[in-house]
Amino acid sequence: MFNRGTKSKAWHGPQNYPVIVPVMFLVSVLVALVLLFQKDDVNPMSAYGLHEQKWNRFESLVQFNPEREFRNGTDLIWQIPNSPKGVLFLAHGCSGRAVNFWDRSSKCPKCVGLPEERLLVLHALARKFAVLTISSVGRCWTFGKEKLIVEDIIRWWINRQKLEKLPLVALGASSGGYFVSALANDLKFSSITLMIAEGIFDQMDIRQDYPPTLFVHMPKDAHRQQKITEFMEVLRNKGIDVAEIECMELPLSPTFLSDRIPGLTQTISARLFNLFREKGFIDENGYMKRDGRATHWKEAVEDSKTTLLKDWVHPVQEELNLAFAHHEMTSLQSEEIFKWVESHMT
Ligand SMILES: *[C@@H]1O[C@H](CO)[C@@H](O)[C@H](O)[C@H]1NC(C)=O
Repeated sequence: MFNRGTKSKAWHGPQNYPVIVPVMFLVSVLVALVLLFQKDDVNPMSAYGLHEQKWNRFESLVQFNPEREFRNGTDLIWQIPNSPKGVLFLAHGCSGRAVNFWDRSSKCPKCVGLPEERLLVLHALARKFAVLTISSVGRCWTFGKEKLIVEDIIRWWINRQKLEKLPLVALGASSGGYFVSALANDLKFSSITLMIAEGIFDQMDIRQDYPPTLFVHMPKDAHRQQKITEFMEVLRNKGIDVAEIECMELPLSPTFLSDRIPGLTQTISARLFNLFREKGFIDENGYMKRDGRATHWKEAVEDSKTTLLKDWVHPVQEELNLAFAHHEMTSLQSEEIFKWVESHMT
């Protein structure tokens, strides 16, 4: 077909059109690839693979199908995948509830499914962890009777589900992080993950076989960062395996909110992004200038006559806090977190 004698002519004659088509196709693929990688270089969101971290990324892999039960004055919500390989206890922060980790469904009509919480659970289920969430009785976790009750609940639940042979791990955020650091002195965990929390290591006698501890934190919170550095040293000196994952700020984009919040459309997401830029809540690169909690974005949305469903206020708030990266639950580092957890499951 590619006759040597006609090759030079092949690039000009109309009869050789079929040769030019694949060549042009290859060239455009190469150009597209170059553009893609260039874009990746300048876009800090790519570092997190944010475009692959959409709220529905697990749709074909796992579905929410939780069970709920009330016991000892609190509620338990859990889900056990087929052939689980471990048990994960998740502890929310102050003002959190077990319902925040699970999407609303006929089985759990009161469930809320906050964007970061729900993705953490989906990551865990996809990796075959049985996931148990419990609500604190008050706004935050307490360290007297409540700690003993929750320890009892976890033991009882594991026995009832016949999961006692599996490794037990825990992840707690903020108040839940302090709580998990205390539970780990009593229950036998394979490892614990403390998210945006330094733990209460200055208030307890750390037992000799304290589990490996991963700190997932936001260095912008300088005070906490300092304490984490200090406590990592304390644990290390006791021969305890420690590690840390740092979570940095991210820029907003027109699709940032619709990528991460179920049901929030791209139109609304882009409108909010433009509004936040107009109002000076974000800088020219899309970064939040202040923490979401300190930004009067709800008032701005009301004034702008943009319709924001009541159900979206909390999720948007969470994502803005996450983008500012001072103190918020995060699922963005789930791959790294679970890799570390799985490498400490003896
Ligand atoms: C928790 O509830 C169970 C079942 O109702 C009960 O048997 C147990 O004593 C309670 N535990 C505590 C610490 O109150």
